[in-house]
Amino acid sequence: MKILIATTNIGKIKEFQEILNQKKIFEIFTLNDLKINEDVEETGNTFEENAQIKATFYNQLSRMPTISEDSGLAIDSLNGEPGIYSARYGGVNLSDNDRVELVLKKMSKIPIEERSARFISVICGVGFGSNTLFSRGELEGSISSSKQGSNGFGYDPIFSPIGDNATLATKEIDEKNKISHRRKSIEIFLNKLIKDKIV
Ligand code: IMP
Repeated sequence: MKILIATTNIGKIKEFQEILNQKKIFEIFTLNDLKINEDVEETGNTFEENAQIKATFYNQLSRMPTISEDSGLAIDSLNGEPGIYSARYGGVNLSDNDRVELVLKKMSKIPIEERSARFISVICGVGFGSNTLFSRGELEGSISSSKQGSNGFGYDPIFSPIGDNATLATKEIDEKNKISHRRKSIEIFLNKLIKDKIV
């Protein structure tokens, strides 16, 4: 089955490809492959709403079954921030590294036992049968007091999974993909496709 992974985030694309290629069910296309340059504003108030906005928009443009993901980091001591604003936290002109520094600064006085956080991944599929499909995966962990590692993307250098002293950015992609929020949401999504006899 040919599907579109509707994101331009290179880190996400790599992880989707690594996880989905193991299943050998899909021929994966990206927005770049289809030369789609249009952008859509994420005006929703939840991960689900934003994922659906993106999946619907790019399914209409591509006419291909489309998977879109809205994901982010929710930090308890910052009242769930950056949440749905993870990709644009602190302003659209900041780099991933600037955002990591911003979080470390905001949390500089927060003690170790109050640094709990989770990554959230919500997938929306449009064009797989007549229903819009959703799945959600979460990874519990905590925010470290300094950056560690250079793999991955986004907030990986300051996020350690629960029971692990090392951040996600110290792990190889296949190690991260065994436990990640994205892995969980993809597995749940695939199980829905199998249950509904779509694949
Ligand atoms: P969006 O889903 O494209 O709106 O962006 C999600 C943002 O959340 C990314 O740009 C990252 O900043 C952050 N994020 C989501 N998943 C991860 C992850 O696996 N590692 C690190 N940061 C992530």
